[in-house]
Amino acid sequence: MSFTVHKAIEEDWEDAMALAYRTFQKYVGPEYSEEGVDNFVNFISDPHLYRMFQVEEYFLWVARDEKGSMIGMGTLRSGNHISLLFVDEKWLRRGVGSALITAFEQYVSEQGKDSITVNASPYGVPFYHKLGFEDTASEQVVGGMTITPMRKMLQE
Ligand SMILES: CC(C)(COP(=O)(O)OP(=O)(O)OC[C@H]1O[C@@H](n2cnc3c(N)ncnc32)[C@H](O)[C@@H]1OP(=O)(O)O)[C@@H](O)C(=O)NCCC(=O)NCCS
Repeated sequence: MSFTVHKAIEEDWEDAMALAYRTFQKYVGPEYSEEGVDNFVNFISDPHLYRMFQVEEYFLWVARDEKGSMIGMGTLRSGNHISLLFVDEKWLRRGVGSALITAFEQYVSEQGKDSITVNASPYGVPFYHKLGFEDTASEQVVGGMTITPMRKMLQE
C-alpha cells in the first residue's frame, strides 16, 4: 500500500487533530503527567492555533493512503520547528513519519532556513535520531510533558 504527503487545506484540520489525539493517547500520553496530557489536549483544541493555521503562521501536512484516508499528520511553527507529528498506529514503521519530515525539510530549506528543530517525545526519540537529529539539551519535563530538544542541520 502506498501513500502520499501533501500540505493541508482547511478541511483537513479536524481529522488531523483527531489523528493526533488518538495516537497521542496511545503512545505519548501514558508517559506524561495529568498536567502534561491536559496541556496537550488544550494545545490541539485551542481556537487560536486553528486561526494561526488559517493565516499561514502554523503549517500542517498530512499523509493519505490510496483510498484517501488520513494516516499521518505533522505541523510546523516558527517556520522550522516541528510542533506535532503523528502516524496512525496501523501505519507505523512504514516510512510515513520519514516522508512527513522530508516534506518539512524541503519547505524549511525553501524558506532559507538552515536547520529544523523539535522537542521530541520519549517515543519519538529513536525515530529522530535515525533521521539525523541531534540532542541540543537533555531530556526535561516542561508543563508535565517529557521532551528532548533536538536539531538537524539541513544541507545547503
Ligand atoms: C514517531 C513517529 C512519528 C514515527 O513514524 P513512522 O512512520 O513509524 O516512522 P518511519 O517508518 O518513517 O521510521 C523511520 C525509522 O525511524 C526509526 N523508528 C521509527 N519508530 C521507531 C521506534 N518506535 N523505535 C525505534 N526506532 C524507530 C526506525 O529506524 C525506522 O526505520 P525502520 O522501520 O526501517 O527500522 C510515530 O512512531 C508516531 O506517531 N509515534 C507516536 C507519536 C510521537 O511520539 N510523535 C513524535 C512527537 S515529537
